[in-house]
Amino acid sequence: MYEHDVIVVGAGGAGLRAAIEAHEEGADVALVTKLHPVRSHTGAAEGGINAALHEKDSWDLHAYDTMKGSDYLGDAPAIDAFAKEARHEVIQLEHWGMPFSREEDGTVSQRPFGGLSYPRTTYAGAETGHHLLHTMYEQVVKRGIEVYDEWFVTRLAVTNEPNPADRTCHGCVAYEIATGEVSGFYARQGVILATGGTGQAFDHTTNAIACTGDGQAMAYRAGAPMEDMEFVQFHPTTLPSTGVLISEGVRGEGGILYNDNEERLMFEYGYANNSGELASRDVVSRAELTEVNEGRGIEDEYVHLDMRHLGEERIIDRLENILHLAEDFEGVDGLDEPMPVKPGQHYQMGGTEVDEYGHSCVDGLYAVGECACYSLHGANRLGGNALPELLVFGARAGRHAAGAVEEEPEIPTGPGAKSDDWDEESPAELGAVDASDPVAADGGAVATPQEVLEQAVETERERVETLMERDGINHADVRAKVQKTMTENVNVFREESNLKQALKDIREAREEYQNVAVADPSRTYNTDLVHTIETRNVIDVAESIALGALARKEFRGAHWRKQYQERRDDEYLKHTLYAWNGGNPELYYKPVILEGHEKKYEPKIRSY
Ligand code: FUM
Repeated sequence: MYEHDVIVVGAGGAGLRAAIEAHEEGADVALVTKLHPVRSHTGAAEGGINAALHEKDSWDLHAYDTMKGSDYLGDAPAIDAFAKEARHEVIQLEHWGMPFSREEDGTVSQRPFGGLSYPRTTYAGAETGHHLLHTMYEQVVKRGIEVYDEWFVTRLAVTNEPNPADRTCHGCVAYEIATGEVSGFYARQGVILATGGTGQAFDHTTNAIACTGDGQAMAYRAGAPMEDMEFVQFHPTTLPSTGVLISEGVRGEGGILYNDNEERLMFEYGYANNSGELASRDVVSRAELTEVNEGRGIEDEYVHLDMRHLGEERIIDRLENILHLAEDFEGVDGLDEPMPVKPGQHYQMGGTEVDEYGHSCVDGLYAVGECACYSLHGANRLGGNALPELLVFGARAGRHAAGAVEEEPEIPTGPGAKSDDWDEESPAELGAVDASDPVAADGGAVATPQEVLEQAVETERERVETLMERDGINHADVRAKVQKTMTENVNVFREESNLKQALKDIREAREEYQNVAVADPSRTYNTDLVHTIETRNVIDVAESIALGALARKEFRGAHWRKQYQERRDDEYLKHTLYAWNGGNPELYYKPVILEGHEKKYEPKIRSY
């Protein structure tokens, strides 16, 4: 058994930032991560980091843009803290040596991004995430923070009181991929989940193969609900054949979207008469797919993104990585021809329900970065807001877990946050899970923290042995079934019958999962076993997305419903919560907080 004050699970940007901050506050910290830190998915982030640095810009403008971008489903305490603290985080990164792109006078460059009222996106070429990851990993190495890399955390060690808000997290269990060893990690003060997004619930995604919703699913089974999972961002510019991201930075620098008639679609068809290509992502993705659906797409599938007019010098200076991606993954030379692009799953706005310090309703259990929901992004995240988010909230959670925060949170979590007026029948039976499944049921009746952890380790060892020893089906078909139905039925445009079909398919996949087995008998780098364990997480997060989408009968941000073409603030100005509830998922709601630090935000019609 390993023991530390604070265990950070995942070593992408959020995990690294949390570990650095907890260490700064004097905690003995360890990072336990499925991937080596610099292989984390943060490294794929291209475009940039928003922060109101310029004297003509301000944090409250950044906060307003973020609230508007969220379609008024963001919580003001999280948004205000974020916009204020992003500035300090970017300056600190610069002091740590982040190689930001710069102007002639040496100041850090900032470019326009979608939905921003001021050009506030800092960047390092079109490989910002890569540099951010390396800059912070250096700080982790410098501080001697222990890193257990290629250790896959598969379970949280949480007490099992009936009310999740009475539970405590004492650590986690991890599987060492190199050796097959299953071990416990005892956390004296807290476990911070920073495991990233849920892209592998879809088959056309910008996300890495490792983005399987591990943190959200583990926390959910341990009692911390998932929040607002129906809000999935589909990025407007991904390469059609692979889902590889073509950064919004291309449009920020002046790239233009054309349909098959060579019309500048965003203006020609009035999708965003003011902002055009720089409307928020949900708007641009719907515009592109409308073009395809109305017969003006190219090869009935995509549109063109043209950056040739920017000129070779500017492209090489600011977007060189885009040239390599288009050439390597689509065989297109962006200097000579327009690039084919279509919407692809990119980001999960929802995640584990936490307060503005990343703390969940389970004592000692935190979540930060894409696996968390504070809720900052609401119904739609603005491009360039993910990287500052992981910095700001990584630092906040690290501080809190190390015991250095005295303020009470403003954002309530757990069953106590439930809306009083929520009396509609829960549609949970639509996606009911098999609660008798011993593999799917977490928790145990034990006393001391060490015993809680020991029992969790024992349960995981048995689970691994069962998967390795029994005969059964391969997980890959089960995962593919989920990905296919999610892409077909829970995409940019959503209809009731499709959402129900997705839930039916996911429920079938869950039943099939009861018979999965691992054919590869090796205990060394057994990726078949790793992917089999991940697939259970993919099923859990996919179900929460589809169920939340079916229950939300309105059109808000990235959630478009054919039958409900308006935002319905009277009914749905509230967050969706999805609780494990002992294996009988419960859907409930809690109010959105619009009262900010200096003003109350008033929901308005959102147009770009
Ligand atoms: O388009 C991009 O470069 C992605 C940025 C983001 O998701 O924030």
